[in-house]
Amino acid sequence: MSIQNKLREVLFTKEQIARKVKELGEIISRDYENKNLLVVSLLKGSFIFTADLVREIEVPVRIEFMVTSSYGNSEESSGEVKVLQDIKDESLKGYDVLIVDDITDTAITMTNVLRHLSKKNPNSIKSCVLLDKPSRRKVEYVADYIGFEIPDMFIVGYGLNYGDYLRNVDHVFAFVDPK
Ligand code: IMP
Ligand code: MG
Repeated sequence: MSIQNKLREVLFTKEQIARKVKELGEIISRDYENKNLLVVSLLKGSFIFTADLVREIEVPVRIEFMVTSSYGNSEESSGEVKVLQDIKDESLKGYDVLIVDDITDTAITMTNVLRHLSKKNPNSIKSCVLLDKPSRRKVEYVADYIGFEIPDMFIVGYGLNYGDYLRNVDHVFAFVDPK
């Protein structure tokens, strides 16, 4: 069924997301007290989540961005992740890295980025995702900080795209077939 005929089912409102992001920020602030936090945000999907999350973090934080290859316009992961834009540090010695992404689906992206950044020898490395679709895993992985668990549905908004659009929607919704 084409997308024009689908209905939008709101999964998380702007207010629900804000509450969850605040909660995550509080936990992260506690866990990273007296550490050297470096947030690495995976573009483009996580740009809105990262912007909100770092403003709820009360410890000093450096923020960098990486671009990895994405699904393009298709809804399925290719299995391959290319680093299209890396952070400029050759070494992450002394940093406590927190990778921030919008969603973990197959976990191919996160496990690849973890492997890539681990080679730069950070003090510690963890991950934080707003949304998690555990039923879709192709590789085993559980993020350290998770906002919401969701079933296997393609979702949009709050940074997540459909084609190149809808990232600016302030809530998270799914396209569903009308009953
Ligand atoms: P993974 O490598 O399969 O875990 O996919 C991670 C990336 O795919 C995320 O960073 C998203 O950008 C994208 N993605 C996964 N599921 C969805 C979805 O339901 N809507 C929009 N983008 C998604
Ligand atoms: Mg992404």
